[in-house]
Amino acid sequence: MTKDTRSAVIPTDRYTRFVSAGLGKDLAARLGLPQPAILRRYTPDAPLITGPVLVLGSSAGADELAARLLDWNVDVRRHGAPKLKLGAIILVLDELSHPDELSVPVRSVGSSLRDLAPNARVVTISRPAAPELEPAAAAARRAVDGILRSIAKELRNGATANGIVLDDGAGTTAPSVLGALRFFLSGRSAFVDGQFLSVSSERGELPEDWASPLAGKVAVVTGAARGIGAAIARTLSRDGADVVVVDVPAAGDHLASVANEVRGTALQLDITAADAAERILAHAAQRHGRLDIVVHNAGITRDKLLANMDASRWDAVIAVNISAQLRMNQAFLSSDLFTNHPRIVSVASTSGIAGNRGQTNYAASKAGVIGMVTATARLMEPFGGSINAVAPGFIETEMTAKIPFATREVARRLNSLQQGGKPEDVAETVAFLAAGSAGGVNGNVLRVCGQNLVGQ
Ligand code: NAI
Repeated sequence: MTKDTRSAVIPTDRYTRFVSAGLGKDLAARLGLPQPAILRRYTPDAPLITGPVLVLGSSAGADELAARLLDWNVDVRRHGAPKLKLGAIILVLDELSHPDELSVPVRSVGSSLRDLAPNARVVTISRPAAPELEPAAAAARRAVDGILRSIAKELRNGATANGIVLDDGAGTTAPSVLGALRFFLSGRSAFVDGQFLSVSSERGELPEDWASPLAGKVAVVTGAARGIGAAIARTLSRDGADVVVVDVPAAGDHLASVANEVRGTALQLDITAADAAERILAHAAQRHGRLDIVVHNAGITRDKLLANMDASRWDAVIAVNISAQLRMNQAFLSSDLFTNHPRIVSVASTSGIAGNRGQTNYAASKAGVIGMVTATARLMEPFGGSINAVAPGFIETEMTAKIPFATREVARRLNSLQQGGKPEDVAETVAFLAAGSAGGVNGNVLRVCGQNLVGQ
């Protein structure tokens, strides 16, 4: 087995612990209550996936991918076998031209679903339903959306389903396809479910060591004194990066302890300051000699129904959550320090996709982040760089701990995995997007929401 992931058993919340065993488990089953699984999360030095991987699909791309997976010491099968407990099913649909072609491969997935081990993975690999295609081909390709998202909703026991879309004629074994596949198979993607990732070119390079894909890189993380930002700093550091942690002076003590923990450096600043990016660049140059990765994580909420929204709430949220990022990116992109395959990852929110009552300001800012990421993608290309967004759903942090109990309990169960995510889940996704193997992933928005059932 290759070094990558191990089944790390980290219970999510008290209810999940209660219904995971004994009386609680029986009770929940009898009353039809949600029975969230304890998710498999990443720990180094562990198998990528436990159990055989079934590669379905009859194209040359499917054969090539199956052969390539052998390099990862994965037990690859091309046909299901009764009673075989599968770690994953990979469905390769890279040559679809008509919906009639779906019946055989998709039903093959169906007949193996009951054989999936707990925390297993289903991954589809397909091509985009571009408008210039023949209608039948576009229909077949678009059908994969409905199939994958429905499978994700049918899976149980912590299993997830996600899709890779081969853009720009990318082959099934392009470096970034392999990088994305590895992310989806591993425990790193524990809370990513029902999502598609577009991989657009042959760009991207595989790391020498999958356990330290960010070795030699320097990363800056804003809002890193606590919560998701602190988790991102820890994960980037674990993956080999030198990390600069940034937060407001009022959070200086917490910031210093995160910096110590990750053996990085701390920079106290308010990201809304006009010279914030210049100060980050100067700090990175002086203390680390380079800057490769910027993670825009700092964010605030100032919730109010729009009817009661005052200018200070609106303006503060827009200033921190989007205007600061726009100004900083402009400075980063005109600096010589940030030209060698630079990476930007912005933390958006599912509120920016589906909207949320009482959050017009926050949803505007986070939807704005998505718009900014989409339009900045082409500006990263001349440097061989990329920019992507992660959109977390309900994540267990100090911010969400303040939500009243009943509202919180409903919010955290309303997804296919029936639980809230952890800051580490967002951090793993950020680290994946920051790595060399994600070089062909540019302008994407990847939700980390357990396939949240609300909204779009
Ligand atoms: P948090 O409130 O625990 O941490 C945010 C950090 O950003 C704090 O340390 C704060 O001091 C810092 N910060 C705020 N304004 C700043 C400024 N002007 N300059 C520098 N630093 C500043 O929040 P949490 O939950 O860790 O969220 C992190 C990001 O994830 C935010 O962008 C948030 O909108 C987003 N998010 C969080 C979700 C959740 O469920 N917790 C869901 C979706 C998105």
